[in-house]
Parts: sequence; structure tokens; C-alpha cells
Amino acid sequence: MTQPISFLNAGRASSAGSAQVCAEPCVLVIFGASGDLTKRLLLPAFYNLACDGLLPEQFAIVGLAMDEFTTESFREKMSNEIKQFSTRKEFNAKTWDWLCSRLYYTQGKFDDIAAFARLAELVSKLDIQYQARGNVLFYMATPPSVFGLISGNLEKAGFKTSSAGWKRIIVEKPFGNDLPSAIALNREILKYWTEDQIYRIDHYLGKETVQNIIAFRFSNGMFEPLWNRNFIDHIQFSVAEAVGVEGRGAYYDRSGVLRDMLQNHMFQMLAYLCMEPPSSFAPEAVRNEKSKVLEAMRIMDASGVRANTVRGQYGPGRGPDGKPVPGYREEPSVPAQSTTETFAAVKLFIDNWRWLGVPIYLRSGKRLWKRGTEIVVQLKSPPDVVFRGTTVESLEPNRLIFHIQPDQGIELRFQAKTPGPSMSLQNVNMRFDYSQAFTASRAIGYEVLIYNCMNGDATLFSRTDLVETAWRVAQPILDVWKNEPADLPNYAAGTWGPKAAFELMERDGRKWIEILNRETLQKVPLFETADSVLLASLIMALKPVVFQPDDLVIRQGEIGREMYLISRGKVDVTDGSGKALATLGEGDFFGEASLLTSAPRNATVRAQSYCDFFALDKSDFKRVLRDHPQFLESLMEIARTRYNVSAEEVSSEED
Ligand code: BG6
Repeated sequence: MTQPISFLNAGRASSAGSAQVCAEPCVLVIFGASGDLTKRLLLPAFYNLACDGLLPEQFAIVGLAMDEFTTESFREKMSNEIKQFSTRKEFNAKTWDWLCSRLYYTQGKFDDIAAFARLAELVSKLDIQYQARGNVLFYMATPPSVFGLISGNLEKAGFKTSSAGWKRIIVEKPFGNDLPSAIALNREILKYWTEDQIYRIDHYLGKETVQNIIAFRFSNGMFEPLWNRNFIDHIQFSVAEAVGVEGRGAYYDRSGVLRDMLQNHMFQMLAYLCMEPPSSFAPEAVRNEKSKVLEAMRIMDASGVRANTVRGQYGPGRGPDGKPVPGYREEPSVPAQSTTETFAAVKLFIDNWRWLGVPIYLRSGKRLWKRGTEIVVQLKSPPDVVFRGTTVESLEPNRLIFHIQPDQGIELRFQAKTPGPSMSLQNVNMRFDYSQAFTASRAIGYEVLIYNCMNGDATLFSRTDLVETAWRVAQPILDVWKNEPADLPNYAAGTWGPKAAFELMERDGRKWIEILNRETLQKVPLFETADSVLLASLIMALKPVVFQPDDLVIRQGEIGREMYLISRGKVDVTDGSGKALATLGEGDFFGEASLLTSAPRNATVRAQSYCDFFALDKSDFKRVLRDHPQFLESLMEIARTRYNVSAEEVSSEED
């Protein structure tokens, strides 16, 4: 497998295949060890590190929590859970036994000083037994409200004064709930620890594809000269989740997506994508550049927030398996009138030399139609003078797309001449896929972070000033949203999100790039039998559009510029007098007749519910028809029965 080692540590860690470098010895203490984080992420990460030979012999883990376990029963619980949560294809019993024999448990409450005295005793015993050199790593798998309490009790139990070895803490988000609480939390932690002892986890920075953003930018000569306001039109970040709040309603309702995803994970990715080249990969060199770019982000006033942000909340709808799912307000532990946002779209600016005037759009939401994190860097369109007088109506801008997850790769979209005697263009792509270039990584991201922390490398962790700067940008949005209620819910579960998010881009003459794949298209009956060339061409050509109940999609008598495929929702088709002609639903399409014949729209179409459509504009439609006669045949079949359109009418239009 690809070594789950940060490339940032190239000096310390070796590449796959050569001798591996173990992390430094230590006793690792997990506060809140019986919780979800330990079983789902930490344990599989330790196990992966062990499988890759990256944990030293001088290593032990102590779990501390309120639940009544003994070391034996804790080992038993972990042995069952690792089988469920391991990310490896095969289970290596020998490696697990090695790790399991290093697991210890001590029961206690975080406010019980006697529990900390017992912990100190156990840690010092293990330190001698495993020769951990006095190094102790404290992992706070707990809510931030107890960071101070735990730190104070560690101090009282003498951990701070024991001179041998290093002492570090890893803290989990949320780092505050807003700017004042983040400042207060930082102050509290800094009472007990120095900045170089604090490792704030943002698990997105453990993802290979996120780390690769800097590797890609600074190891390739081709793109960096273009990486600025002269060549880049805009950047869009999308983090879509198909899941809802997954039993975390109580937490989520106090958070919302702006705090949960944008202020941390997405701002971190943005910093990597937009920061200046650091002088080296030394932790402070990288963190300084991140800090500078975040500081240059424009802080919006209230009118800026109103103009540049959109929030949403999901109502009932359908999950990825097509089964009905409840709306956010019906989720367990969520108040029935909750105004917490589960979706946000935000337009930001970085006011510095490199980026001034380049809009940066961020959107994220729960219960969207798919899981997918993508970053699209859209270049400015070239001048179209050369193509005047040809059949090419407009030039599509080049796009560089970082596929972060679940697809992992980088894609460059550009235009190429379609084969044939006349000048006609089609969007095509070049794509690098992690799974094809490398043996797929089975890492979950936490390995890299824990490994780096054990080695004292803070590059991938957030610093006090970085956290506070990010809150400074988010705070005005939180304030306006709190004071000005929105009409929620405004999107159905399983859809592309609120219409207002699309309008945010459309107002600027831009569009969100929805990444489609073959599987999605093959679910549309019209494309069921499409060959791979047709699918590839449609993936580049189809554009997502959304409508709310009662929105007018097509008006009778208008000139048709696009046809629509219904991905989700229902529409009513009526004639000029308002008489109902049909109701169309998922998999149906409409609007093709006036493209086929160039006649005005012969019916009016209104959304009956929240609707997601794929739109195919006229020039792409004509190209697809010309290049894929079987598609024309399927369309004609339907058009003939629906509108009595003849093949001759279509071919004369084509000419
Ligand atoms: C967490 C959020 O930080 O990130 C969750 O609290 C979210 O709400 C998760 O689901 C997303 O992480 P990933 O790695 O699945 O994209």
C-alpha cells in the first residue's frame, strides 16, 4: 500500500518499499476511550500504523473513561470492534495481538483527582515496562468543555512537572462555537500547555488527496504560473454528504454546517489551495503561509453576508437507496422548529495580491444526492475571435478538478475538435486516478495525524492564530444568520440542495460543477443503453438545475434553448389554456421537441415538487444527436408518439 506517511515528513519517513521509520516511543492516553471516536477511527488508525510497522516496540495505550471496564474487558471490546471497523481487507491476527497486548484501561471521571493519581501511577509503570522515555501523548476524545478540567487535573497529578520526555495533547474539534468561545478555549488550553505541545486535529488534513493539493501545486511547474487572478476566473469547493445527522442531532443542532464543515475543514483546504509557496515544509513555514492567506480573507459586513451567503435545511425526502428519510426537524434530538442550517453556500474573497477579485465559492450540505468532495479551479475563457464564423457558439473555460473523495484524483477539462469536416468543439478531459496510479490507500487519515504528532511534526495541525482567524471570517455570517430567520426547510433530502445556492452562482454568470458519473447517468432510462463514448460526452455536457415547487420551467411560446431530464421530482405539463396534459417524473425528459424542430415551446411546464434536472443545451444537444444516432433514434421514438414530430423535420433542422 501507499505508505500512510505525510510527504511533509520526507526527511523522517521513508517511501514505500524502503526501510520504515517508526514513530517515537510513548504512552498514549485516550480520554473518553469508550466512545465512538476510539472504535471508529483511532483504533483502526493504530492498527493500520502497526500493520505498516510504524509503531515502535516502546509503545502502549491507556484508555480512560467513566465506563466500567477492566483492562481485560477493554481489550475484549476493542478486539470485537477492530473486526468491525478495520479498513484492511484482511485481518492480521498477529499484529492485532501485538497491539492489543499494549492496551490498558483505567476507569475514572474527569473531575476525580483520585482517578488522575491512578492514571499517573499506571503511566509511570508502563513507561518503565515499555521504555517509553517519559513521552506521553494525551488524546482528548472528549467534548472541548472538559479540555481545561482534564488539563488541570493532569497538572495536579504531576504530569507537567515530570521532567523526562515530551508531553503533548491532541484535541478534537470543535475548537469553539464562535469567535469569543474559541478565544476563551485557546486561553484555557494555553494556561496548561505551550503552543508546541498542542495538536489540534482537523481530519481533512490527514486525507491523502488534501495533502496532495500542496504536493501538486509546488512540485509541478505547469500550473503555478497560472495560479492567480490573471488566469483564474473563480474557485469552487463542494463537500456534499448523502448522510443526515446520524444520531448526532443534539450536537449538530448547536453547530450547523457552517461551524461543522466550512469554518474548519473547508477553510483548511482553501488555505492549501490558495496560500503562497512556503519557504520549506517546516511546520511553521507552512502554518505561517496558511495563516497569511486566511488573514487576507475578506470579513463581510451584514449586507455582504446577505448578498453572498445562502443557507438551507433538508426536509423529508429520500436516501441514496431510494427509501424515504425524515427531514432534519424530525431527526432524533432535533427541536421541531430548529433553524439550524444543514446546507450552506458562501462566496468569499481573498484580498491579497494574488487573488483580489477572484470569487471563491464554498458549499456543503447533509442529505444531498451523493457523497462527494471536489474542488474546481476554473480558468478564464479564452477570446473567441478565432472561432467567429464557425459553428462554435461559445468557448467553455478550462477546469482543473481535484477529486478529494470518494473518487480520488485530478482531472483537467478542456476542449477538443470533434472529428468531421467542420469546426466543432466538445469538452473532453484528462484524468489521473489514485486507484490506477497507486495501490489504493487503505488509510483513514488519522494514521498520518497520529504518526506526525508522535514525531513532533505539527505541520498538519492547526495553530491558535489559525483557528481564531477562521472564526473571524465565519463570525459575521453566524451573527446575521442568527438575527435574520430564513424560510426553512428549503430542500428535500436526497436532492442537489436549495435553489438559492444555484442562484448565488448564476447571478455571477457561473455554475456549480456537479460531477456526474456513469452510474448516475445509467439510472436515467434514456441512457440505459448508451455506450461509453456517449456517456463520457454527456458527463461533460449535462448541467444540473434545480427548481422549487410551483416554479415555471418552460413557458409555452418561448424559444427553446435546452432540454431537461428529470433526476428527482415531478413536473406538470399544461397547454396554453392551463389544461393538464401530463405529469412527468424521474427518468422522464421534456423540452426536446422545440430543439428538434426549432419551433416555439408547445407547452408550459411547472415544478410540482422540489426538482433536480439535468439540462442539455441546444448546441450540445445537436452535437450529441449528430455523433450518436442511436440517441436520436430513442428520442425520436418518444417525440413521435408525444408530439407527432417527424424525422424529416429534425433532419431539415440539422442541415
Ligand atoms: C466531521 C463532521 O468533522 O466531518 C461531520 O462533524 C461530517 O458532520 C464529517 O460528516 C465528514 O467527514 P468525511 O471525512 O466523511 O468527509
